Amino acid sequence: VNGLYHLSERPTADVERLVARALALRGGSAAKRFPGRALGLLFFSPSLRTQASFQRVAGKLGLDLVQLSGSGGAQGIWGLETREGAVMDGACAEHVREAAGVLSRYVDVLAIRAFAGMQDLEADRADALLHGFRRFAPIPIVNMESAQYHPCQALADWSTLDQLGVPRHGKLVLTWAWHPKPLPHAVPNSTVTMAAQRGMEVVLLRPPGYDLGVEVLAEAVQLAEEAGGSFTMTDRFEALRGAHVVYAKSWGSLGHWGDPAAEAARRASLRSWRVDARWMSEAGAKARFFHCLPVRRNVVVADEVLDGPASAVLEQAENRLHAQTALVESLLEER
Ligand code: CP
Repeated sequence: VNGLYHLSERPTADVERLVARALALRGGSAAKRFPGRALGLLFFSPSLRTQASFQRVAGKLGLDLVQLSGSGGAQGIWGLETREGAVMDGACAEHVREAAGVLSRYVDVLAIRAFAGMQDLEADRADALLHGFRRFAPIPIVNMESAQYHPCQALADWSTLDQLGVPRHGKLVLTWAWHPKPLPHAVPNSTVTMAAQRGMEVVLLRPPGYDLGVEVLAEAVQLAEEAGGSFTMTDRFEALRGAHVVYAKSWGSLGHWGDPAAEAARRASLRSWRVDARWMSEAGAKARFFHCLPVRRNVVVADEVLDGPASAVLEQAENRLHAQTALVESLLEER
C-alpha cells in the first residue's frame, strides 16, 4: 500500500500495530527520528487539528516541513488539472502529473487535504486530486481528508476506542445531526467502516434520506461480518440504548447533492436531531460522546454533553497527533 487513502485498505493487523504504536507514543515512548527527510502538507481545504497535528508530527520525527496551500490565492499553488489528455486552455496552469512528480523530488511523504466540492456527486466520488497524486507520485500519499474518506481521523478514533477500553465488539452508534448546511461524507464513511473493521456493533442512526453511499454501506456490512461485528441502519431513537459510543456527525443527503435549497427544505423539520443529555441518558451510563471536531455547539450537540464527563472529543483530537506520528514513522521505515 502506497501511503494511506482509506483505513480499510490496510489489513486489520497493520491497523492494530499502528494503534498500539500510537498509544505507546501517547504514553511517552520516543518517536524515531529521520534527519534529512521531509514531510509535505498540501491543503486545498481548511483545517485546525490536521494542520497543527501534522506540523507537530514533522517536529517529533525530525523532518523538514514543506507546507503549501491549494490553488485560489496569491499564497496558493497553481490550479491543478486532473484529467488525462486535457487541453489545458482553461483555469488550471499545472497538471497533477507534474505537481506530483516535482513534490516527490522535495519530500519523502506527501499528505493532502481536498474536501468534497458538494456540487457534483460523481466528481466528489471520483476523488480526482487524491487519486491523481497517488497515481503519479512515487512516494507515499496520505489522505488528510478527501471527498470520500478521512482515514487519519479513523485511525485516531480507533486509538481512542482502545485507550478508553471500549470493548472490541462494543456498540457504536453514528448519529446524523442537524447542521445549517450539507456536509461531506468523508467522516461518516470512515467512521462506519473503521468501527466495522474493528468488529463493533455498528448502528447508523439517521432520518430517512440520509443514507451513506451504497459502496460504503456494502463495505461496512462486509467488514463487520469478517470481524465478527454487525452493521445496521435505523431512524429509531431507541437504537441508542446500550451504546458504548454515541458518535455525532452531520452529512448531506445524496438525493439533493448540489442542490442546497432542496436539502435545506428536507432538513427543515429535523432540528431536533441534536445530541443532548436525553440522548446520552437513552444510551446509558457507560456511553461516551465522540465527534471529530470542529463542532457547532448547541446545534449538533448541547453544551451539557460536550462539556460533560462523557465527552471524548479532546482525547480524539490528541490522538490525531499520536496516530499520525505512528503512521508517518511507519511509512518512512517502509521506505
Ligand atoms: N477533525 C479534523 O480533521 O479537524 P480539522 O478539520 O480542523 O483538521
